[in-house]
Amino acid sequence: MPKPKVFVTRRIPSAGLDKIRAACDAEVWPEPTPPPRAVLLDRAAEAEGIVSLLTDAMDVPLMEAAPHLRVISNFAVGFDNIDVPAATERGIAVGNTPEVLTDATADMAFCLLISAGRRLVEAAEYVKEGHWETWEPLGHIGADLMGKTLGIVGMGRIGSALAQRCRGGWGMNILYYDVASNPDAETSLGARKVDFDTLLTESDFISVHTVLNKETHGLFNAAAFRRMKPTAVFINTARGRIHVHGDLVAALRSGEIFAAGLDVTHPEPLPPEDPLLKLPNAIVAPHIASATRQSRDAMGEIAAANLLAGLQGEPLQAWLNPEVESTRRR
Ligand code: GLV
Repeated sequence: MPKPKVFVTRRIPSAGLDKIRAACDAEVWPEPTPPPRAVLLDRAAEAEGIVSLLTDAMDVPLMEAAPHLRVISNFAVGFDNIDVPAATERGIAVGNTPEVLTDATADMAFCLLISAGRRLVEAAEYVKEGHWETWEPLGHIGADLMGKTLGIVGMGRIGSALAQRCRGGWGMNILYYDVASNPDAETSLGARKVDFDTLLTESDFISVHTVLNKETHGLFNAAAFRRMKPTAVFINTARGRIHVHGDLVAALRSGEIFAAGLDVTHPEPLPPEDPLLKLPNAIVAPHIASATRQSRDAMGEIAAANLLAGLQGEPLQAWLNPEVESTRRR
C-alpha cells in the first residue's frame, strides 16, 4: 500500500515531523519563508494531506486545486488562514493546535505588558546608545501594575491565563469584553463582563485574545484608541488585523495612549522603515508568543496526530469541523 502524499509547508519540530515522515510520503518545504502560492497550488494537486502554517492561505482556489485533499492540519491555534466552511463543504477535515500554547502565549502577553508599561526596550536602548549619565529622578517613568485594571478582549483560554497571572500576582481588577460569558473567570478571578466602551475607558492595560473575524477585524481603530486612558497600555498577541495599524501609530505618537506591546502586526513582517518601529513607546516582537520548546514540540505532535487521523478517516485530536464526518473524503 503506497504511503499517503502530504505537503508540509515548513520544517516543524521533529516531535511531529518524524512521525509524519515515518507514516507518509512527505515533502517538506525546506525554506525558512513560506512556499510561493504557485508552489502551494502545485503541491495541492497531489496532496492527500497538508500541514499548513498561519502564513499559508488555505482558501477556495487552493481547495479547488486539491481533488485528493482529505485533511488540513494547521500548525497554529488560530485558523483565520483557513476557509473552514469551504473545507467542510468539500469533505476535508481541519485541525489546529489549541491548549498547548496557552501558557506560553499568556506569558508573552504579560512580558509585553510589563515591558511596554515600564518602557524597558526604550531604556535598554538608551543604555546601549551611551546616553546613561546618571541616576535620574524624573527619567524613564513607567506604569504601575499593582491594583490596576486589566481589560481582556476575548476571555477564552489565553485571556483567562493572562487574567490569572495579573490577578494572582499583581492584584489587578479584571474586566472583559466577549460575546460569551466566562462564569469561571467571574467566580475565580472576580472578572466583570463589560461593554466595549467600558473596557476602553476603565482599563489601565488592554490585552487582545480574541479570534480574528468580521466582528473583531479593525476593532481597535482611531475611535477606540481615543476612548482609552492617556496612561493606557495596549497589548496584542492575537492577530494584527484586530487593530488598525495606522490608527495605533497615530495614537502612540500623539500620546492618546501611553504604550503598546505587540506580538502581531499587519502586515507581517513589518517593513523595517515602518513608522511604528521608530516610536519609543512601541515594542514589537516577531509573532513569537508560542515559541517555547515545550509548546512548539507539543504543537508539532498535535499537528502530526491531526494529519494522520485525517488521513486514516479517524476523529482528529483537535478538530475544527467535526460536522464534516458524514461527508468526509475517504
Ligand atoms: C499563533 O499565532 C497561533 O495561532 O498559533
